[in-house]
Amino acid sequence: MSWFTKAISSSLGKKFVMASTGLFLIIFLLGHVSGNLLLFKDDGGQAYNFYAEFMTTSPIVQVLRILTAASFILHIIYSILLTRINRKARPVEYKVTKPGANTEWPARNMGILGTIIFVFLVIHLRTFLYEMKFGDVAYVDYGDLGRVKDLYTLVASTFSIWWYSILYIVMMVFLAFHLWHGFKSAFQTLGMKHRKYTPAIEKAGYAFAIIVPAVFAAMPIFFLIKSLG
Ligand code: HEM
Repeated sequence: MSWFTKAISSSLGKKFVMASTGLFLIIFLLGHVSGNLLLFKDDGGQAYNFYAEFMTTSPIVQVLRILTAASFILHIIYSILLTRINRKARPVEYKVTKPGANTEWPARNMGILGTIIFVFLVIHLRTFLYEMKFGDVAYVDYGDLGRVKDLYTLVASTFSIWWYSILYIVMMVFLAFHLWHGFKSAFQTLGMKHRKYTPAIEKAGYAFAIIVPAVFAAMPIFFLIKSLG
C-alpha cells in the first residue's frame, strides 16, 4: 500500500477527503450561484444563454466540471465510509449528550441532509444538464452574435411549474442546514483553528449558508412570479 492509499484509508484521511472536497464544492456553489444571477438580467435571457454556451465550450470550465463531479462522488463515497466507521465504533446510540458536545441539529443530521441534497442533485441534473446535452432545447438566433441553445427558456418554463419551484425552495432550506455545519466543520478538519480567525470563519460560514441558498431559492420564486404576472 502506498503512503497515499494509507493516508486516505485512515479515519483522519477520510475526514480530510470529506473536508477538502466539501470546500471545493463550496467554491463550485459560489461560482454556480454567481453565474445564474444572469437569470435576473432583463434582456430576455441573452446574457444567460451566452454564459451557458461558454460553460459548455471553454476547456478550463471542462476541467473544473470534471473536478466538481469527482468532488461530489468522493464526498458521497467518503461520507458513507465514515458513517460505517462511526457506527462500528459506537453501535449503540448515545442517550445522554456529553456537555459541550456538538448538539446542533444540522451537525447530527449531516447524513440525512446530504442524502436529500443528493436526491435533489439527481433531479436537478436530469432537468437541466441532461436536457441541455441530450434533450431538444431550441436554438435562439442573436444575429451577428451567433446562435446558441435557449437554456434561459428551459429554466423559465421549468420554474413556472409551481410544485417544481416549491420543491426547489424546500431543497434550498436543506442545503442551508447542510452548509451551516459543513462550512465550519471543513475548516476545523483541515486544522484551521485560530483564536482570532476561527470565530470569523464560523460567521462567514453561517452567512454563506444563508445567503447562497437564499439567492438560489430566489430564482424559482422570480420565475414563478413572472409566470403568474
Ligand atoms: C435554483 C437555482 C439553480 C439553477 C437555476 C441552476 C441551473 C443549472 C443549469 C441550467 C445547469 C446546466 C447548465 C450548466 O452546467 O450550467 C446546472 C448544472 C448544475 N447544477 Fe445547478 N442550478 C441551481 C442550483 C443548484 C444547486 C443548489 C446545486 C448544488 C447543490 C447545483 C448543482 C449543479 C451541478 C453539479 C451542475 C452540473 C455542472 C456541470 O457539470 O456543468 N445547482 N444548474
